[in-house]
Amino acid sequence: MTTTQEAQHAALVEALAIRGLLSPEWRKVWERVPRDAFVPPVVWRQGAERCELVTTATEWRQLVYSDEPVVTQVDDGAIDGPGVATCSNSKPSMVAGMLQLLDVQGGDKVLEIGTGTGHVAALLSERLGDDHVVSVEIDPTLARQARERLAAAGYSPTVVTGDGEQGCRQAAPYNRLISTCAIRHVPYELVRQVRPGGMLVTPLARDFWSGAVVQLAVQDGRASGPIRGGASYMPMRSHRTPDGPPVQATGRATDTGLDPRRLLNLGFAMYAGARLPGVSMIHAEKGGTVEVWLMDQTGSGACCEPDEQAWQFGERDLWREIEKVYAEYEALGSPSSDDFGLTVTARGQEVWLTHPGRVIVSA
Ligand SMILES: C[S@@+](CC[C@H](N)C(=O)[O-])C[C@H]1O[C@@H](n2cnc3c(N)ncnc32)[C@H](O)[C@@H]1O
Repeated sequence: MTTTQEAQHAALVEALAIRGLLSPEWRKVWERVPRDAFVPPVVWRQGAERCELVTTATEWRQLVYSDEPVVTQVDDGAIDGPGVATCSNSKPSMVAGMLQLLDVQGGDKVLEIGTGTGHVAALLSERLGDDHVVSVEIDPTLARQARERLAAAGYSPTVVTGDGEQGCRQAAPYNRLISTCAIRHVPYELVRQVRPGGMLVTPLARDFWSGAVVQLAVQDGRASGPIRGGASYMPMRSHRTPDGPPVQATGRATDTGLDPRRLLNLGFAMYAGARLPGVSMIHAEKGGTVEVWLMDQTGSGACCEPDEQAWQFGERDLWREIEKVYAEYEALGSPSSDDFGLTVTARGQEVWLTHPGRVIVSA
């Protein structure tokens, strides 16, 4: 690193520390592991519609030393695809927050799912030692490049090419498991590979709106714990949401008293995601206002702008359904995302509100 790069790296770490995202131990680790060593020369910036190629060295540096995700692969490496991010060096503040939640202790053995650029594996190796870190990456090219970058930076954790949905049984059990790709449900095989008293931290890919991180304590053959804020990670390959059919063309105007802006909070997203599986919500800023769209996997949809009628399309009355679910959510006291939690057992997964005994949805 040049002196300027060292100063920029130090400023990034300082900014994370000021936000309370680094314990003293993690601060030392971040200081020693340069992010730029794990970012390839060809990268993209995440745009609203698609990823934009970074074309200048100045822009590259600006991105790498900022609290932004750096996209390092689009379309699983295919040329001329739609420009969807499939690998990134994640946003530093999200990584720091997830590593804090992982609560590692000296001597712990950790499994990471989603090696990506190798940056998180390097941070964990610096903190715990190479022998205590196993990382699984599904994409063979990314796995090879991560191994090369890790070696060049002086780290040699075990990087396995494989499907992390199954964890990594050959090196189990682990004290901690962190997934850096988002999962729709927690496969029980992952719980099985964590020692009793261990911890599993993962982003959840919610159909409905945006992602959330869950921190699960493993004990007595189950993993249970609260949602710990929002996080937007790219989904595990087998957990991607397939594109639904286009919304059916003819709409029905529908009077509504529900301001669509009220739907845009993570607490409601947790509740609606559990109550309306398969329904997704997107929103777009539009001329100083916001338009909210709901869609399902059968071509039903609904859209609404503030102070306007809603429009419903297809067989389902999706706006009426969301009004009902919103009324239920209000009746529960409009809980925030951190009031929700998850329990995973061999029988399946339960979303709960305030404590594990108050299950709102089993799946
Ligand atoms: C956000 S990136 C991870 C960033 C990484 N932790 C780093 O430090 O750069 C998500 C990664 O998960 C990988 N991935 C997706 N599905 C996977 C799976 N089933 N098993 C293992 N890795 C997977 C993707 O190929 C991608 O590299």
